[in-house]
Amino acid sequence: MIDIKNDPRFSGIEPFSSRVWLSSPTMHGDEQRWVDDAIQTNWVSTVGRNIDEIEKAIAEYVGVRYAVGLSAGTAALHLATKLAGERLYGMARPNEGTLRNKMVFCSDVTFDASINPVAYEDGEAVFIDTERDTWNMDPAALEKAFELYPETKLIVLAHLYGTPGKMEEIKAIADKHGALIVEDAAESLGAKYKLNGKWVETGALGDYNCISFNGNKIITGSAGGMFLTDSKEDAEKVRKWSTQSREAAPWYQHEEIGYNYRISNIVAGVVRGQIPYLEEHISQKKAIYERYKEGLKDLPVTMNPFDEGKSVPNYWLSCLLIDEDAMAPHVRGEQDELWSHIPGKSSPGEILNAIAAFKAEGRPIWKPMHMQPIYRTHKYITVEGNGRGRSNAYIAGSGTDVGADIFRRGLCLPSDNKMTPEQQNIVIDIIHRCFQ
Ligand SMILES: Cc1ncc(COP(=O)(O)O)c(C=O)c1O
Repeated sequence: MIDIKNDPRFSGIEPFSSRVWLSSPTMHGDEQRWVDDAIQTNWVSTVGRNIDEIEKAIAEYVGVRYAVGLSAGTAALHLATKLAGERLYGMARPNEGTLRNKMVFCSDVTFDASINPVAYEDGEAVFIDTERDTWNMDPAALEKAFELYPETKLIVLAHLYGTPGKMEEIKAIADKHGALIVEDAAESLGAKYKLNGKWVETGALGDYNCISFNGNKIITGSAGGMFLTDSKEDAEKVRKWSTQSREAAPWYQHEEIGYNYRISNIVAGVVRGQIPYLEEHISQKKAIYERYKEGLKDLPVTMNPFDEGKSVPNYWLSCLLIDEDAMAPHVRGEQDELWSHIPGKSSPGEILNAIAAFKAEGRPIWKPMHMQPIYRTHKYITVEGNGRGRSNAYIAGSGTDVGADIFRRGLCLPSDNKMTPEQQNIVIDIIHRCFQ
């Protein structure tokens, strides 16, 4: 490993005076107004005008009939997954999940919040490998998974880093096999996809759809999330479950297990102040992506790709992938790593450490779920079929594993919409010096 600050390759670069973030909240002032409104009118619990307004505004923006504000994207994903489980397999006993003994085909390169709800509902997540065109669920691997486990009826997929996946192909496969889709649009609010010739927002592409207002997302409430649907019945069910499943009795009466998942009117006030700035944030993130693309074009790297004809990302995070033959040694253990330098080459470890030394925050690519210790015993399906146990002491190569390859060679770049072009040029300069 190298002492970056004393490495002559980086001489003359000064650390940023204030940290450049991966993706931090950007407040505009309107948020304060709606939070104050909640406090002044005493509507500070899980009922109030801010909640009504953001549900209306987001439903309209995404193009769905109903939106239900929740405490987190994870809460939305849990209730979406539970709804799907109940529709497919019926109501579960109070101490059992709706997906008990059932497989669910899941995105592999995503944040674990996408797919943990499958475990909350007692299901078995089966991870589907990733394609190289958008870094999302590979339709060919999904088709292979249905060949192997045709009884499976649920898919949970995410749009990584704000780039829509191959929804046309995936929806066709789901329809063919009679499967439902939980869409995790936590990272992709504002991204669009051309489905059968018509532009559709992410968050309106699945049977059950979820977004997040976590602090690092394209707009934030400090926390919060939403369940999005065209079904009045599903919206009402999620609203009921999220408020402890109260029945219409004078006392606390419960027919079903409940959750305390509803959004607060204060958090909704922050979201309400952010919604008018969604498009502005997207165009700032797009400019960041394009500046990186231009500034790094002479290096042996590529940016996170998207389908230009069929999708418009929200550009939430800009990422790069180092060409295989430009990879310097970089090995990762469970919690630590080692990397070294070779002139003309670099590695995610070196680049992330170099930018961190000058007070800029990047991040490794989300480590694929099939590689996570918690899910190592779970099935993993690639275009070749079973992705587990393919290596062999007597045969060269160890099967395709696109997710592992993107994790190994890729990284997320500082993508904060408050980063100035001057700061970004310094990040680009540091990356160039990594390859010297
Ligand atoms: C893909 C994805 N899904 C789900 C979540 C969970 O959302 P929340 O943090 O609002 O619970 C996140 C991020 O936080 C995410 O990136």
